[in-house]
Amino acid sequence: MGQQQMIDKSRPVRDMAEWVESILSRMTLAQKVGQMTQPERMEISPAEVRDFHIGSVLSGAGSCPGANRPEDWINMVDAYWNAATEQTESHLPIPILYGVDAIHGNANVLGATVFPHNIGLGAANDADLIERIARATALEILATGVDWTFAPTLAVARNDKWGRTYESYSEDPAIVTVFADRFVSGMQGNLGEEGVLACAKHWIGDGGTWNGVDQGETRIGFDELKRVHMTPYLRALAARVQTIMVSFNSWNGDKCHGHGFLVTELLKNQLGFDGFVISDWDGIDYLSKDYAEAIALSVNAGVDMFMISVEWREFIRLLIRHVESDIVPMERIDDAVRRILTVKHRFGLFEKPAPAARKWSGSSVFGCKDHRDLAREAVRKSLVLLKNEQQLLPLQKQSRILVAGRNADNRGAQCGGFTVEWQGTKSSSQIEGGTSIWEAIRDVNPTAQLSLNGSAASRDRHDVALVVIGEDPYAEGMGDIRESDDVVVQSGSMIRGTLKVLEPYGQSLALADLHPEDLEVIEKISAQGIPVVAVMLSGRPLVVEPEMALATAFIAAWLPGSEASGIADVLFGDYNFTGRLAFSWPTADGRQQNVGDDGYQPLFPYGFGLSY
Ligand code: BGC
Repeated sequence: MGQQQMIDKSRPVRDMAEWVESILSRMTLAQKVGQMTQPERMEISPAEVRDFHIGSVLSGAGSCPGANRPEDWINMVDAYWNAATEQTESHLPIPILYGVDAIHGNANVLGATVFPHNIGLGAANDADLIERIARATALEILATGVDWTFAPTLAVARNDKWGRTYESYSEDPAIVTVFADRFVSGMQGNLGEEGVLACAKHWIGDGGTWNGVDQGETRIGFDELKRVHMTPYLRALAARVQTIMVSFNSWNGDKCHGHGFLVTELLKNQLGFDGFVISDWDGIDYLSKDYAEAIALSVNAGVDMFMISVEWREFIRLLIRHVESDIVPMERIDDAVRRILTVKHRFGLFEKPAPAARKWSGSSVFGCKDHRDLAREAVRKSLVLLKNEQQLLPLQKQSRILVAGRNADNRGAQCGGFTVEWQGTKSSSQIEGGTSIWEAIRDVNPTAQLSLNGSAASRDRHDVALVVIGEDPYAEGMGDIRESDDVVVQSGSMIRGTLKVLEPYGQSLALADLHPEDLEVIEKISAQGIPVVAVMLSGRPLVVEPEMALATAFIAAWLPGSEASGIADVLFGDYNFTGRLAFSWPTADGRQQNVGDDGYQPLFPYGFGLSY
């Protein structure tokens, strides 16, 4: 075995810089560029990870191995790890990082505890809860042998039409900022065997896109960019977040993926970020129609690792060519690889055994009762009571309850996007464990009756009806609301590169337009003289005047995840409502209003929420 391929794992941390330099000095250009490359698991075998010296592999949302059990994940990550750490004449053993989107629990995996999406956690406004959720999520990630999650999302969503609004804790940077710190601390721990690498995303201005068009254009001045969208990152950096993902959006005409000022000057030089920057999924494709040029623009702007779904071989080939022809300086490559190796070293990756042999791999902590209790607590705290006339709530446990609405018995709908599948799942079948809203009510009151379309409603048999209304699952641009197909105009006129347009969720924020069937169910039941409690599952506030007018009580439940028992806890009065709006509620005209805006007159203001 060649001397060059040995790595001494026994060096103490204080020698880290020297140690990293010693590895760097022995790496070939191909090995360095391989470290900077992160292919998607479907597109790369373990042997290729070895042969191309790959630094990281990811699972895109919903990309799951085998039968999607923790052991399938461990086996997969183990195979990549073993290939990456093989020592041969031509291969330097450098362990890989495996990354996933565990953004509300390790929710890609069957049987995981699914926590409320961030929008609900913002309403809970409990920083300690965030840290406990991050901790529990870290353990469920470690149980699958994985090292790294692309979370937290630090977007400050300023337009509810944006399909990623639910990934945002709040329209107010104050909440996002406090949570940034606690999430990163909970997730990374001390970066030892209990920790998972966090990734703050998406740098920068993702939540500020014009008209809420996903991957669009953020047209604001530098002061607002800093005040609203950068502030949360300062706390994530203080908590020593190790990785940051660049955003798909542009800032005043220039894509973040090629933005030297935002990535190198601001993030690395001015703010002192010393971890590594990763691109978003094929995010460099936007920079130029010429792939080679796109690569050069992004590497030179300061992006260190590249998430490339399919074309990773081409990426490697072109980047090597760029360095050989001085289009990308060798110092830039060294800086990127130094950062990646430093993070791997800080994370103890060189000392860690293969994933299968790690402390938490295969642990029964995955989907355990304690975590489900924690998720249930989070659900209780996230609910916002918007209306409660005639003190209809809390419900009497012995009252005769009708449960209706198309998603009343649907754990998939409760979980929303980024759950098992990228776009989420539309039934309970893939959400193992937990309870649907119907199941949670029936657990308390076995005489409750389920009638999804409300046709069983009868004043003689029902004292009250719970009607579950709202959105179906979606993710990213497929959740956008756009009035027309004129995306480029709606996203701002200055976009230069390709805009990858996904079919939007609908054309208006009005629930009566998106899902008229919900209003019909409420009408049908109210016509019988039965008072209605509307429980809305949604990734954002919606225009709901007609539904709210007919309902006697109205609860915004956001996307609560797998544990709807938390809803029953509050409905029946075992707990009080403590959730408060972290997003201003739009009026019938759908006008976007954020707390602090001139002429601020939302239907319900930021901070609103009733209690018993
Ligand atoms: C999203 C990221 C995500 C990545 C990997 C992208 O489409 O924008 O938030 O981490 O995919 O799944």
